[in-house]
Amino acid sequence: MEDECKPMLNTGLRGVVIADTRISDVQGAAGKLIYRGYLIQDLANNATFEEVAFLLLFEKLPNPSELKAFKNQLAAERDIPQELIAALKTRPKDALVMDVLQAGVSLLANHDPDITDQSQEAAVRMAIRLIAQFPTLLAAWDRIRNDKKPLKPSPKLDHAANFLYMLKGEEPDEEESHFMDVCLVLHAEHSFNASTFAAREVASTRAHMYASVGAAVGSLSGELHGGANMRVMEMLKKIGSVDKVEAYVNEQFDAGRVIFGLGHAVYDTDDPRAHILSPMSKRMGERIGETKWYEMSQLLENTGKDEFHKRKGKDIYVNVDFYSASLYYAMGIPIDLFTPVFAISRVSGWTAHVIEEYFAGAAPKPMLYRPESEYVGDYCGPDVCELEPLEDRG
Ligand SMILES: CC(C)(COP(=O)(O)OP(=O)(O)OC[C@H]1O[C@@H](n2cnc3c(N)ncnc32)[C@H](O)[C@@H]1OP(=O)(O)O)[C@@H](O)C(=O)NCCC(=O)NCCS
Repeated sequence: MEDECKPMLNTGLRGVVIADTRISDVQGAAGKLIYRGYLIQDLANNATFEEVAFLLLFEKLPNPSELKAFKNQLAAERDIPQELIAALKTRPKDALVMDVLQAGVSLLANHDPDITDQSQEAAVRMAIRLIAQFPTLLAAWDRIRNDKKPLKPSPKLDHAANFLYMLKGEEPDEEESHFMDVCLVLHAEHSFNASTFAAREVASTRAHMYASVGAAVGSLSGELHGGANMRVMEMLKKIGSVDKVEAYVNEQFDAGRVIFGLGHAVYDTDDPRAHILSPMSKRMGERIGETKWYEMSQLLENTGKDEFHKRKGKDIYVNVDFYSASLYYAMGIPIDLFTPVFAISRVSGWTAHVIEEYFAGAAPKPMLYRPESEYVGDYCGPDVCELEPLEDRG
């Protein structure tokens, strides 16, 4: 029977520290996001995605020769197997993109020569392959579902530019590549968020890298997590124009509904990443001659914050999904790819966490996660239920 003293926490694990990590620190009260000791603003302004992925995997920023070797390694691993392209062609064109991505991760596992190797070196090689191949897989799927031939990765392009090239079929200019690169830097890591926890929980069973990352993709797909950026754009499109923003905000609050892109489970300030994304959204809008989505976002942010304060007597803040939506839209990225684009960046954080779960920490590794639950079901009496034969059950 139950131990009366067992603690029960129906908190969604909010505020419960379940492991230590050297990978990142989210200081919610101060509005700081730190990857391995470096502020996100400094990384976004001064480092590329490849440098950040190296930092996450190897615990230090690369020097020039390390960066060159790492970029070459990523570029060399970008191709996905022809069998995977053939499998993608069998998928229904309206399949949910995150489902295709998650299935693709499992299929990639079938082709990885390191899949049964439990060494740290093999885990790092698998991490690099996953980071390299996510953009190829995603771009290939988008082209296949639009009856276009998938493009081979371009070894002369950096990670962000190559993704846009494989997606759109033309090389992006320097500014657009830079914006994509900054987005990848900003979304790469965020401590024990839901998808990272999912990856680490699976890794704690000694399941392999692909099983862990596949679980993380599934977790990211939910609208309370990575799916929110798509909801922001759908909301902007539903509002339609700047003059309708105020009425929309009031309508949402009156009905007790949320405004996507506002609020965060951890930050008590604006999300530092939102302030980096906002000017890029404005600039990208100017470039395509359509600043409406940025202007609507700005007004929605201000009106939403004011109205929230008026009604609840407290503040609400803008999160990472708010301006990334209008930015991706202005970059010509289809709305249902917004969350998968988040994934092609976050796979760097997930894989770093899986490696940490396998090989770091004080305890003999890995420590299997095994929380407990409180059984609140029946016993049909003081002890267990008596099992009736099938034919006697009413
Ligand atoms: C992210 C989120 C789940 C965080 O939630 P949280 O910090 O735990 O806050 P709670 O859900 O407890 O909400 C606290 C209060 O603020 C309100 N609130 C929170 N986010 C809100 C939003 N975006 N719009 C309107 N009201 C909001 C809640 O209704 C609640 O009101 P109450 O105190 O009267 O019940 C929540 O802010 C949200 O749903 N945001 C919209 C979705 C989104 O953008 N998600 C991406 C996160 S990166």
